Amino acid sequence: QQDVLILAFESSCDETSVAVVKNGKEVLANIIATQIKSHQRFGGVVPEVASRHHVEQIVHCSQLAMEQAGVSYQDLSAVAVTYGPGLVGSLLVGLMAAKTISWAHSLPLIGVNHLAGHIYAANLVATIEYPAMALVVSGGHTELVHLTAPGHFEILGDTRDDAVGEAYDKVGRMLGVNYPAGKTIDQWAHEGQDNYQFPRAMLEEDNLDFSFSGIKSAVINMLHHAEQVGDAVNKKDVAASFQADVLDILVTKTKRALKKYPTQQLIVAGGVAANSGLRERLQQELGDRVTLIFPPLRLCGDNAAMIGAFAYIKYQQHDFADLTLNADPSLDF
Ligand code: KG4
Ligand code: ZN
Repeated sequence: QQDVLILAFESSCDETSVAVVKNGKEVLANIIATQIKSHQRFGGVVPEVASRHHVEQIVHCSQLAMEQAGVSYQDLSAVAVTYGPGLVGSLLVGLMAAKTISWAHSLPLIGVNHLAGHIYAANLVATIEYPAMALVVSGGHTELVHLTAPGHFEILGDTRDDAVGEAYDKVGRMLGVNYPAGKTIDQWAHEGQDNYQFPRAMLEEDNLDFSFSGIKSAVINMLHHAEQVGDAVNKKDVAASFQADVLDILVTKTKRALKKYPTQQLIVAGGVAANSGLRERLQQELGDRVTLIFPPLRLCGDNAAMIGAFAYIKYQQHDFADLTLNADPSLDF
């Protein structure tokens, strides 16, 4: 049987990435150009700036990916691209690149949901067995997803307000940490003490939804108040307390989901899956009940290899798009 080689594009937010993935499993190249420095001084991603960077980077990234993978266009089986959710102007850059190559080289086009990509990063380091549970935690999403079959997603719980990564970034900003703040807060959390009390939203409610705006606001209000009355604040203790509360929410809901829908595997996906505290707590509390799949750090953040991994499933299902494929900023499963 012939190998399936997919050229994949990801440009939904502030990473321009192009990858070549073989048979949905083997990453031959995964070029990631990050724009973080350009957005840092604004404290978050500026959509207009992001799109312009994607335009500047995408051709170079594609050339590098093809070169590193040692493949030419004739070797490719298909071209895949993230078409949502994400920033519309950013998505359009990847879409135009992928559509151009698809058209010029008569290659099938595959549209990929960014979140499906994050989940299928797991297939690059393990083999997903169905049904599986996925906890998707990123700057834009916090979801519990039940995978019933390849490419079949059932959303069990969602965030009612902020995404967990967004809460990390906003709290980080108040503590004077550069965007994106997750990694530093995670480090500080290990060095500090959990001695501040913040509300743990919706833990008592018998559902699988999340809410992080309450805890985020509580931290921010506490910091404002301390500033006004001139109290000293131990930033590492704030980080430790915030992280402990966030992890309580994530772990409790994940356990509840697994109780309702038992699975053999738990996939933890998205940028916040890099969180060392989350990895430790899930391992401690669920390690003997499920097989935990944590993609390595370079596959947790936004990257095109994960897009190629999920595109392979769609390729096998002959689920192709045509050249009218458009960006869908609020794409759902
Ligand atoms: O998946 P991702 O790269 O982009 C989105 O699609 O959102 O996730 C980025 C998010 C940021 O909010 C960042 O602060 C967070 O992931 N993050 C972390 C850690 N590393 C990155 N959050 C908590 N702990 C970390 N170690
Ligand atoms: Zn992402």
